[in-house]
Amino acid sequence: MISQEMNDTLTRIGPGTDAGAVHRLYWQPAALSDELMTARPVVPVTLLGERLVLFRNEDGALGLIGRHCPHRGADLCYGRLEDNGLRCPFHGWHFDRNGQCVEQPGEPEGSRMHEQIRAVSYPVVERNGIVWAYMGPGDPPDFPNFDCFRAPESHVFAFKGLWECNWLQAMEVGIDPAHASFLHRFLQDEDPADSYGKQFRDKAGNTEIPMTKLLRDYPRPDILVEDAPHGMRLTALRRMEDGRTHVRITNQIFPGAICIPMSREMTITQWHVPIDDTHCYWYSMFTSFGAPVDKAKMRDQRLREHRLPDYAPLKNARNNYGYDPDEQRAATYTGMGLDINVHDQWAVESMGAIQDRTQEHLGKTDVGIIRYRRMLRDAIAHVKAGRLDALPMRNGVSPAAISGPLSNDAIAPDGDWQKVNAASDAERRAACSWDARL
Ligand code: FES
Ligand SMILES: [Fe+2]
Repeated sequence: MISQEMNDTLTRIGPGTDAGAVHRLYWQPAALSDELMTARPVVPVTLLGERLVLFRNEDGALGLIGRHCPHRGADLCYGRLEDNGLRCPFHGWHFDRNGQCVEQPGEPEGSRMHEQIRAVSYPVVERNGIVWAYMGPGDPPDFPNFDCFRAPESHVFAFKGLWECNWLQAMEVGIDPAHASFLHRFLQDEDPADSYGKQFRDKAGNTEIPMTKLLRDYPRPDILVEDAPHGMRLTALRRMEDGRTHVRITNQIFPGAICIPMSREMTITQWHVPIDDTHCYWYSMFTSFGAPVDKAKMRDQRLREHRLPDYAPLKNARNNYGYDPDEQRAATYTGMGLDINVHDQWAVESMGAIQDRTQEHLGKTDVGIIRYRRMLRDAIAHVKAGRLDALPMRNGVSPAAISGPLSNDAIAPDGDWQKVNAASDAERRAACSWDARL
């Protein structure tokens, strides 16, 4: 457990906060490219507690500017998308994609006041289905050479979902390898042939054992954590009764993301992005080492579970997440259906808007969470001391040299799980149609 003061320090992300300053030093997902595929590409974005508007101008370039008009605060999400910028409907002030006011049609002829007027604006770039924003000081860092950025667009599918809780508890579920044996337990195994686009439904490693069975049968993993250039690497080892070892490598990407295996073919790189202190979006990039991603199928699977335009899950606290005690008795550990996103959503939302960490009791399996909080605390101290070069991926190591991160499931016939895991990952990378070599 930690003090209330420390809990506030680690969780609050608005302007001027400690954790907010750390998040602002990294590119953050602001929207899906899908959201801009409309006749009028203007999208409200709330990110790190700041209300913004994202739009694409007639030249095709993106702008991310303050949502409230610098004149008298009207909402620019209702602006007229015209003349290569966004025009406030209240008095017609016109802003370009950098937030510069370029026209004030009601002011006296010849007025140059507009030259002094600028809306807040942040740099944005589009990468593999996501629009990224940099909200920090100075120049944004380069993108790391992660698989989700390296793979061609055909091999990456991006989606997002709203969770009604603080970002940190959302991220912490991703660095907790023990929960999969319980929260995501299925009492019966599905046919892995029906697993496309779903997590924990494939076979484990290169075997015929369904992942669901393996997680169910071996609920006490040994968890190793170590620092990595991107943040932290977690290794969960499940010693099987026949002498083999199941090894699962997952990652924390500093500050708010994880990278985990989804199936033999795909990994998931998932950002937990603070909207404000009590809401966050997960943004996932599903990256294929095999065939191009069937985006239509994956989008359709997920749109059936979410409401647009805010990507709020249809199962939520207002309908008890679809909880069915009969199902809980006979089919799943949660009684909340087969979609594991709903399980995670329940776990993190049911803690309360911001988990009260003064009341928790961390165990041995929470080693990743303990290590991560120390990393975040250290990063906060470095930012306060002006030592940005002490932060992961901002420490002078070329982002181009930071690849992977390796995320894989394998089963080793003996204790030599390092070798087997590396070989199993290298094998799929070598067979990949794009350059996935580490
Ligand atoms: S409030 Fe926007 S132009 Fe007046
Ligand atoms: Fe989970």
